[in-house]
Amino acid sequence: MGLAILSNTFQSLAKNKAANKMAKKYGLKFGAKRFVAGDRIQNAVDCVRELNNKGMVAMLNYLGEFVSTEEAANEATENCIKTLEAINETGIECNLSVKITSLGLDINKEICIRNLRRILDRAKEFGNFVRIEMEDYSHCQLTLDIYKELKNEYNNIGTVIQGYLYRSEKDIEELNNYQANLRLVKGAYLESADVAFPKKADVDENYEKLIKRHLLNGNYAGIATHDDVMVEKMIRFTQENHISRENFEFQMLYGIRSDLQEKLANAGYKVRVYVPYGVDWFGYFMRRLAERPENVAFVLKNTFKK
Ligand code: FDA
Repeated sequence: MGLAILSNTFQSLAKNKAANKMAKKYGLKFGAKRFVAGDRIQNAVDCVRELNNKGMVAMLNYLGEFVSTEEAANEATENCIKTLEAINETGIECNLSVKITSLGLDINKEICIRNLRRILDRAKEFGNFVRIEMEDYSHCQLTLDIYKELKNEYNNIGTVIQGYLYRSEKDIEELNNYQANLRLVKGAYLESADVAFPKKADVDENYEKLIKRHLLNGNYAGIATHDDVMVEKMIRFTQENHISRENFEFQMLYGIRSDLQEKLANAGYKVRVYVPYGVDWFGYFMRRLAERPENVAFVLKNTFKK
């Protein structure tokens, strides 16, 4: 099977409701532990503490997405609040990252905003920060609308912009009016060529352009990539343009390019590692495989390991 076909298969599996439900029941399997801290908050705290000890900060994500009942959305909200409380109690250096389809976005906008407000209020009490992630294209406009509405009320909120979308250049300019704290990513969902650059080279080019534009606008950037070349380019760009290290951080996923994470932290750059935890690991794990189908060898090895 070609790598592109494998990648599309993983993307379809990521959205498959039956597979996600089944995976929840059976705990972390197939080597998912490489990318997910564990299913309990204590696993997440331990993992972040270890990163803090290595000079890095983190962001916790309580795994979950595309929920379809108010009960499940409320439960996810409670888990986000418990995560903030655990961060506060343990003193780990960490903020929160959340997918708002887990807070009820697909049920209705009001439920989602109500839940998000509860999370933001608690985070504000603790002096902590919450980032709304960007999910698939069908949720993009709504996510940005919610971000803008809440940014008028809260200072401790950020969101994400994806380099593969044609619309992102315009979004970056519009978000400049909000002095948005943005995480910039290449994009992890399977999107049509009607809305996203189909060629990787074009995605990379657009991604670079967006980060530069956002930084030159004087805004804070989470440069979220494992791409060596891009990291080098951004180091050079910030040096040449006298952009302070206070204005950006590198962000990477737990379990991916730990060597690069440590190298940057040792060189004095702020590195924030995205640490997901919880029982709803399957969709996240499938997207990590879709990004790099070569990982399948690693999955097969773990599938047959007792
Ligand atoms: P690229 O795909 O070019 O990979 C560069 C190198 O990184 C590869 O050669 C390989 O060495 C390594 N690598 C990348 N992916 C790997 C993997 N899965 N396994 C092993 N090695 C891998 N997306 C989104 O749509 N919405 C979001 O909110 C977020 N949030 C987010 C947070 C953070 C902290 C990061 C780092 C990423 C995201 N993403 C995301 C995912 C992002 O869109 C993108 O899919 C991945 O980061 C992979 O792209 P890279 O930029 O790493 O580059």
